[in-house]
Amino acid sequence: MTIIEDIAQMQSHRTTAPTVLVPTMGALHRGHGELISRGRELAGDAGSLVVSIFVNPTQFGPGEDFDAYPRAFADDCSLCEAAGADIVFHPSSKAMYQNDATVSITAQGLTETLCGPSRPGHFDGVCTVVAKLFNIVRPDIALFGKKDYQQLAVLQRMGRDLNFPIEIIGADTVREKDGLAMSSRNRYLDEAERAQAPAIRRALLAIAASSETNAATRIDLGREIIAKDAPLGRIDYLDIVCRETMVRLDTIDRPAAAAAVFFDKARLIDNIEILP
Ligand code: PAF
Repeated sequence: MTIIEDIAQMQSHRTTAPTVLVPTMGALHRGHGELISRGRELAGDAGSLVVSIFVNPTQFGPGEDFDAYPRAFADDCSLCEAAGADIVFHPSSKAMYQNDATVSITAQGLTETLCGPSRPGHFDGVCTVVAKLFNIVRPDIALFGKKDYQQLAVLQRMGRDLNFPIEIIGADTVREKDGLAMSSRNRYLDEAERAQAPAIRRALLAIAASSETNAATRIDLGREIIAKDAPLGRIDYLDIVCRETMVRLDTIDRPAAAAAVFFDKARLIDNIEILP
């Protein structure tokens, strides 16, 4: 496995097709491991698998956890190698963002619900860095986790709207035994919070299992479960939105439900696809 830090070196590195990119911010866990293994399958023996590790400053708002975000480069490299990566691309912030950078990407439309209102500018930062990674690595395929459901929708739309010749694929969320979605932020939880956090998944499962067509009634059901089983948590949102447009639904037809819950320093998100 080769580690590349220099942008020009990554850009001129001869990868073999299909080149698969798994963008990450590091602090890798078993969920990333499965994402990278899936990337290996898609690349096959002949293709190249690139994992980028970059904690992207432009997607964190003021007061968010950019400084505290866990960094564990040596462990991350071991995980990447074990999961079959050929290259780890690990640029510095200084190299990625010039002081006088003036052009960036704005994501509108799919960002008015869910994480959008609580994280202004977040998806602009995500789109900008992913577009840069696409231009630097020039992959044929890019893989993202479905846990960040809205992020995946926004990036697929960016691929379409800006004509990136890249197939953007979502991979299923990997969970702990008790249902908690794996996340680099789970390590912020203390013991009591960790014990309560699986309530998010239980709330989403209850929402999906209900036959109620009224979205608000299903959301109330989920809220009750979180209030009862996770009193240390504070709900940021619990919503049922259309999968394509991310618009909030009153009546359920082609929905996805998503939730974000704060536990002190940890903002955890999860989602479930539900059928009408
Ligand atoms: O999902 C993430 O880890 C990040 O948002 C991404 C896609 C690597 C962009 O920084």
